[in-house]
Amino acid sequence: MAYEAELDRGERLTLEELKALQLDRLRSTLAHAYRGNAAYRRKFDAAGVNPDDLRSLDDLARFPFTDKSDLREAYPFGFFAVPTDQVARVHASSGTTGQPTVVGYTKADLETWSALVARSIRAAGGRPGMKVHVAYGYGLFTGGLGAHYGAEALGCTVIPMSGGQTQKQVQLICDFEPDIIMVTPSYMLAILDEFHRQGIDPRATSLKIGIFGAEPWTGAMRADIEKAFAIDAVDIYGLSEVIGPGVANECVETKDGPTIWEDHFFPEIVDPETGEPLPDGEIGELVFTSLTKQAMPVIRYRTRDLTRLLPGTARMMRRMEKISGRTDDMLIIRGVNLFPSQIEEQVLAIEGLSPHYQLRISRLGQMDELTCVVEAGTKTAFDDFDRLADLLKQQVKDRCGITASIDIVTPDTLPRSQGKAQRVLDERKKGMQT
Ligand code: DLL
Repeated sequence: MAYEAELDRGERLTLEELKALQLDRLRSTLAHAYRGNAAYRRKFDAAGVNPDDLRSLDDLARFPFTDKSDLREAYPFGFFAVPTDQVARVHASSGTTGQPTVVGYTKADLETWSALVARSIRAAGGRPGMKVHVAYGYGLFTGGLGAHYGAEALGCTVIPMSGGQTQKQVQLICDFEPDIIMVTPSYMLAILDEFHRQGIDPRATSLKIGIFGAEPWTGAMRADIEKAFAIDAVDIYGLSEVIGPGVANECVETKDGPTIWEDHFFPEIVDPETGEPLPDGEIGELVFTSLTKQAMPVIRYRTRDLTRLLPGTARMMRRMEKISGRTDDMLIIRGVNLFPSQIEEQVLAIEGLSPHYQLRISRLGQMDELTCVVEAGTKTAFDDFDRLADLLKQQVKDRCGITASIDIVTPDTLPRSQGKAQRVLDERKKGMQT
């Protein structure tokens, strides 16, 4: 194992020690949630379970799930398990559909979070003394501030740039010479375009490492970004309800899916339909129980993210496979299930297409129509658009089992994200309202 001496205590636990610690922490978390929060008390009572019923890790399956709707019902602070005067900070999810969900942290929670993001940056190859350019958004979103305090805790110099102002991003990367950038993969692509626009070679910057997350991105996208910037690109995973970024992070020496920081978050995979626990190795919905959080413990929180649990490699703790999609991102087009990431893989496999794409779904009569709008690469001749469209159509048909219309457009046509990309435009919903 690389950097053995640099690992923290949690990363050096043996499997037996980890399991004993998880059981111990799980017991206190259940007791704390039950004692400190009326919503959990009601849920446990309704399910006929009591924190004392947990005698082994497997007993967790007897406890009820928590999901986004529970948090929304308790908006804004109804899931806190400590008095509000002990809450040092709140964050909130974007809430594109309905109420935002609010999360809270005590001072100790903020320290735990920073230590885990520090661990994540170190797993990505970061070291004290390095400069970290943070281009995740600052504010209610957990990305910016989460990355910020984690980088500080590791002993790095933080450049708190936040999202947006793309020209300035490029200027600061050139002038301040950071070693690491933390940003969504889709915004990294917008920054790449800006390097090209300014005629600056993106491979010639000081950057060595990119820590990308907050949205799904494929292995093909990793390869593209690593090549374009001459950096190592690693995956950071997290969600506000569980803590924010730093629930899991990929180790740079293996780049084989994020290692889950299991000493703080207990993962399960369940069947998304029935909620039945699935064994390691099977794909299903990821569910987390926090093991150390005070202000807002989460018990069996359903993330809606689809993945599977894999054995540890660079660390003893288990990994999760790169997220393939969310249960609520899955498109059903004429009966075929499809995730945007499947189209991304096909787009990136074709020379001459750019990684900028959007999926539009409309309804013609009773039939759903999928149109993949993809920008051509900057060096692609207009005459080549038809051939590329035919090629992509064939690939999508062969690999995803779907007949899609393909629209190749000139560079810079699609909107650029400054945070999480909006890959799907569902025009069926618009049509239904009119
Ligand atoms: O996106 C926290 C975060 C910030 C993670 C910065 C990584 C970096 P939310 O806004 O609550 O929190 O969104 C959480 O984003 O359930 C996943 O669907 C998705 N997501 C986060 N990281 C990844 C990733 C932050 N590495 C939701 N790969 C999660 C795929 C991701 N999807």
